[in-house]
Amino acid sequence: MTGSKLPNTKESIFSTMSKLAREEEAINLSQGFPDFDIDNTLSELAFKYMKAGNNQYAPMPGIVELREQIALKYEKLYNYKLNINENIVVTSGATQALFTAITALVHKNDEVVVITPAYDCYIPAIKLCGGKVIETAIDLNTFNINWAELKTKITSQTKMLIVNNPHNPSGYVFSQQDILELENIVKAFPHLIILSDEVYEHIVFDGKPHLSVLGNKHIRNNALATFSFGKTFHATGWKTGYIIGATHLINEFKKVHQYNVFSVNTPIQYALAEYMQKHANYKAISNMYEAKRNLFINAINHEKLNIKPSTGSYYQLINFTKLSDKTDVVLAKELTRKIKVASIPISPFYFTNKPDKTLLRFCLAKQDETLLKAAEKINMLGEYV
Ligand SMILES: Cc1ncc(COP(=O)(O)O)c(C=O)c1O
Repeated sequence: MTGSKLPNTKESIFSTMSKLAREEEAINLSQGFPDFDIDNTLSELAFKYMKAGNNQYAPMPGIVELREQIALKYEKLYNYKLNINENIVVTSGATQALFTAITALVHKNDEVVVITPAYDCYIPAIKLCGGKVIETAIDLNTFNINWAELKTKITSQTKMLIVNNPHNPSGYVFSQQDILELENIVKAFPHLIILSDEVYEHIVFDGKPHLSVLGNKHIRNNALATFSFGKTFHATGWKTGYIIGATHLINEFKKVHQYNVFSVNTPIQYALAEYMQKHANYKAISNMYEAKRNLFINAINHEKLNIKPSTGSYYQLINFTKLSDKTDVVLAKELTRKIKVASIPISPFYFTNKPDKTLLRFCLAKQDETLLKAAEKINMLGEYV
């Protein structure tokens, strides 16, 4: 359309691959959602609060009970006390939190540094605000952030740096050194805003801790962080999440949030507030997903596939470079049609740079038998590519 605000935007790769998976009746390890149900206790709680008449608009920043639970959890895990009135807003999933944060803070011509491959909702939001996307890519052998290169991209024109930890699609988890790098950047650029997407905070493997940005006292005054109850409690369709951050940033966030969604599903917020009181409900999740990662990668024995075990998130990348010289998008579609396993190619997660390896992303948030069946089919693919 003439005058389109996003002229080059097509259907997202997630919609394309999920649609293809349905058409081909393939095992869908593409889009990041579980194929198992939520805890029955949580659905009973949602029903309980609906039946009890909690069905009208919630307060704009979220119900007090849920913000209290979020603050309690944050203090317990990251040793920082959030003020429930100043630092927390409940959102319609992390996607809305990210979009609203970018809209509220990025002005025309502001530069925003994005680390690619990057989850697909950041860049369109920046463009809609007239912001300039400045890209820096991770190293696809190690999945490390190239901090030396990243620092060269930050100037006095840079309004925001977006980070994602644990990272989709690589599964990379920030180390203490990564947080220190961020701290040094903030010290050098005191007006820079760090927007940290932490939706997979409870999915971190091999005994590593998740390090949240507001847990660092030098970063927290410049930071916002987004979270997703959908990812944590296997309820992606509930589209509920939250954002936390420095008071002056959350004030700006609320100005847009109140006209964007105003408030979020009331009975679901009550259900989550009660469910969160039991810490085991989120603490056990890393172990569950670590077992799924192990099951999946141990079941794949194709000699030409290179797998670097994911260290967090819903995802496992597999490197197909030795097996195929097709582009990742072509390969992902071909595997869906021929071996009936759908995945996500990573090139759509880039802005202008393109990946130098053929990596496909497989979602681990599936029942064990689904993962085993997919692994069996992947082992057979030698004859197809
Ligand atoms: C890195 C990342 N951020 C944000 C989201 C969106 O979260 P939500 O479903 O809560 O909007 C996703 C979903 O896949 C994601 O992978």
